[in-house]
Amino acid sequence: MTDQTNHDVLLEMKDVKKHFPVKQSVFERVAGESQKAVRAVDGVSFHINRGEVLGLAGESGSGKTTIGRLALRLLDATDGQVILDGVVLNDLSAEELRRTRKRMQVIFQDPMASLNPRMTIGEGVGHGYKIHLNSDPAAVRRAVLEIMEKVGLTPADVLYDKYPHQLSGGQRQRAVIARALITRPDLIVADEPIAMADVSVRVLLLDLMKQLKEEFNLTYLFITHDLATAKYICDRIGVMYLGKLVEIGDLRDIYGNPRHPYTQALLAAVPVPDPTLRTDDPPIRGEIPNAINPPSGCRFHTRCPIAADICSQEEPVLREVDGEPGHFAACHLRTGDYKHLDPENQDATEAPPQ
Ligand SMILES: Nc1ncnc2c1ncn2[C@@H]1O[C@H](COP(=O)(O)OP(=O)(O)OP(=O)(O)O)[C@@H](O)[C@H]1O
Ligand SMILES: [Mg+2]
Repeated sequence: MTDQTNHDVLLEMKDVKKHFPVKQSVFERVAGESQKAVRAVDGVSFHINRGEVLGLAGESGSGKTTIGRLALRLLDATDGQVILDGVVLNDLSAEELRRTRKRMQVIFQDPMASLNPRMTIGEGVGHGYKIHLNSDPAAVRRAVLEIMEKVGLTPADVLYDKYPHQLSGGQRQRAVIARALITRPDLIVADEPIAMADVSVRVLLLDLMKQLKEEFNLTYLFITHDLATAKYICDRIGVMYLGKLVEIGDLRDIYGNPRHPYTQALLAAVPVPDPTLRTDDPPIRGEIPNAINPPSGCRFHTRCPIAADICSQEEPVLREVDGEPGHFAACHLRTGDYKHLDPENQDATEAPPQ
């Protein structure tokens, strides 16, 4: 269980929103229609403690990458606050932000797109070091060779002069990891870092990330749509649905006692070897709705196998699950005042409204 008394919080997101305006047609403008927006992230709050790995899971389009980019202030929030180590990133000037950048780094899914094809691996890995820490060429080279050894890019002096296309996919992702670590960051946002890697190297990369986390005292925001991967590396998991965080808690609680039907559906899609952890929930149906006009009430109600009337009428808030500190879910029927409507609730005493 997460230690509730010793919150050494590194990153905090407070009711963060990111709405992307949608281009209006001439007809819509003439008709005076109000500006539409994709509500990619729509009021999300969570924290990550120092040294922790928080996973963010959810289907494509749920807002995971947008949260990652907001956390690094690669995107400006429409509303809310992003706080890194007590500093509100929203308020930083361009210069202050530039100085803070070295403390937070990102590892994207596609190493080929992340690495400059015209830079050698050595130049690419050393770029941030040169900008943020020390521009002396000998110092840069030393730092690059050292970090390349740490991430298993060996022989480092040979690979130093290679170009990205001359490396294997696994080696390229190691180069991206090296480039992220060379500025000695506190926070790493890893956005589907192994999704494009060959199956044979995925576990190796995850093990490397775990090992580096200990060695460099890192904190990860680990984005993945795959709960099996999340289970391997995360301490806590947050589940996103259509711009909202619908559940968050320790790995054990999310896997052992998932409360939100969406989390349960995601878990049902993961092959679980332990039969006691399997759920009988039907697999999720339909597609994720449009984020411009999300469903009323609980955004998941249009696909939820247990939805009741209340679910389309009132938006559920995240509530702590009884007896599980730090485990929150936003479901009227599983954590709210309407628990008696939940068909799975053993204490059901009232019939659902007609
Ligand atoms: N720059 C942008 N302009 C407009 N809409 C955007 C922009 N970036 C993201 N979106 C929209 O915001 C929503 C969330 O996108 P996001 O990339 O954060 O989802 P995701 O959970 O990372 O999905 P995936 O698993 O496919 O990577 C989507 O509807 C997406 O189309
Ligand atoms: Mg994404």
